[in-house]
Amino acid sequence: MLTTLPSARTKALQVAAVFLLLLGDQSSAADLAHGRAIANRWCSECHVTGPGQQRGSDNVPTFSEMKKSGKLDAARLSTFLSAPQHSRMPDLSLTRAEISDLAAYIKSQGH
Ligand code: HEC
Repeated sequence: MLTTLPSARTKALQVAAVFLLLLGDQSSAADLAHGRAIANRWCSECHVTGPGQQRGSDNVPTFSEMKKSGKLDAARLSTFLSAPQHSRMPDLSLTRAEISDLAAYIKSQGH
């Protein structure tokens, strides 16, 4: 009885891990769509956020340029947006979830 317990637990963890992986795949499409919506709403005034947009402000990096620069994971974006030492940007008070969705969207930009 006691000896079977660990393997039952391992099995349960494996099932949980597979389940989480599947969930992760499903939520990333939703994250992207959400990130795009936030970008259109809050960022496109100044940044060119996607291929459909013709113009942003002068001298503001486009999302595709940000992606190319490769320095934008969710953690850096979060630091950047929550400590707007780049003072030309407004403090947008985005949640962590919104920021990670934005990061996912920015990563999907440009080639
Ligand atoms: C009012 C205009 C404005 C809005 C709105 C705005 N930005 Fe910016 N952003 C800027 C400017 C200007 C810069 C150039 C850096 C600076 O401020 O010196 C910048 C820089 C950045 C950078 C740094 C890029 C780099 O390569 O260093 C990131 C990341 C960024 N913006 C993300 C966002 C996101 C995400 C949003 C929407 C939630 C957003 N910005 C909304 C004006 C804006």
